Amino acid sequence: MVKINDNFLKLPGSYLFSTIGKKVAAFQEANPDKKIIRLGIGDVTQPLVPAIIQSLHKAVDEMGSAETFKGYAPDLGYEFLRTAIADGDYKARGCDINADEIFVSDGAKCDSGNIQEIFGLDNKIAVCDPVYPVYVDSNVMAGRTGTYDAASEKWSDVIYMPCTMKNNFAPELPKETPDLIYLCFPNNPTGSTITKAQLQEWVDYANKTGAVIIYDAAYEAYISEENIPHTIYECEGARTCAIELRSFSKNAGFTGVRLGFTVIPKELKVGDVSLHSLWARRHGTKYNGAPYIIQRAGEAVYSEAGKAQLKEQVAYYMNNAKVIFNGLKEAGYTVSGGVNAPYIWLKTPEQMTSWEFFDFLLEKANVVGTPGAGFGPSGEGYFRLTAFGSFENTVAAIERIKNI
Ligand code: MLT
Repeated sequence: MVKINDNFLKLPGSYLFSTIGKKVAAFQEANPDKKIIRLGIGDVTQPLVPAIIQSLHKAVDEMGSAETFKGYAPDLGYEFLRTAIADGDYKARGCDINADEIFVSDGAKCDSGNIQEIFGLDNKIAVCDPVYPVYVDSNVMAGRTGTYDAASEKWSDVIYMPCTMKNNFAPELPKETPDLIYLCFPNNPTGSTITKAQLQEWVDYANKTGAVIIYDAAYEAYISEENIPHTIYECEGARTCAIELRSFSKNAGFTGVRLGFTVIPKELKVGDVSLHSLWARRHGTKYNGAPYIIQRAGEAVYSEAGKAQLKEQVAYYMNNAKVIFNGLKEAGYTVSGGVNAPYIWLKTPEQMTSWEFFDFLLEKANVVGTPGAGFGPSGEGYFRLTAFGSFENTVAAIERIKNI
């Protein structure tokens, strides 16, 4: 008889944002007259900028004529996009990353879930706590995380690196040596960042111990301060220990368009096996490439007009971040994040768990946020709001929170 992958049965509950979606839908059904403001999932609200729309239109027209029609995309991505990325995101920052080290995909969520497939099941992963749930859940599904302890809300074979107010939300090098280290900066969910010197310590540590860092830089466009690395390849030695994941969702509003990429430098090897070759083999076998029209839209992100328009869009969201940050402070909350990231991380009021605060905000202010506990045990007592709403909704949400 057929057997299932019973690792799936070990997963407690449903995916965090599905759980929240269900709760909010039930509340709306019971209270149809309430106007709910959603600052929960980090989904953008502003339309694609004109440079991207123009590029999309042009590409759609190309698909309508036999001379310019495109079938399957090259499985690793079109050269025009990979070159734009290598030049715009890496060479422009003095980082030595070439077009053929970039793998275009339909988004960083899939890549961050899939990347673990090229590593053996006996590797030990280390994650920040709290953490974007995909890193842990995808390793659970693969059978790499041991058993779940409901009391501590931890997996036996995962190294948790607490990130709380005590350490300024920056992970410390773990006592036990991991094989795979997931890092995300600017951080989801805490909105914190680390300096280049701090990231360099991680790179040195990984090179010394033989670990691989999976570095999620989905939020780099939101960095406003100096000395915060935009990519891990700004650090010396990262080419031999780090994979980087990037997304077009947050910097260019592609959450519904879908585009991302993974960088694997050719020097990154385990023994004499190149991780670049493994990922190329995996990508070629399981993926038929992001659509041509979407890759053309991605190319427009790097055009002069695209860059100028997106700078304004990022500034729009960061103004929301300021409204949230300052408004919550005025209301007496302890707040962090929101300066180099579109997420604001606040302490829940005394004696309220983060899920209790979620219900409280939904019922009393009709505002949706994300409970810190949903991101891991050290997220308990914290709560996340996103700056990706419209300005009007953001102002209204903060007014409502102040008034309860
Ligand atoms: C989040 O809210 O954490 C993100 O939107 C999730 C994602 O990017 O998949």
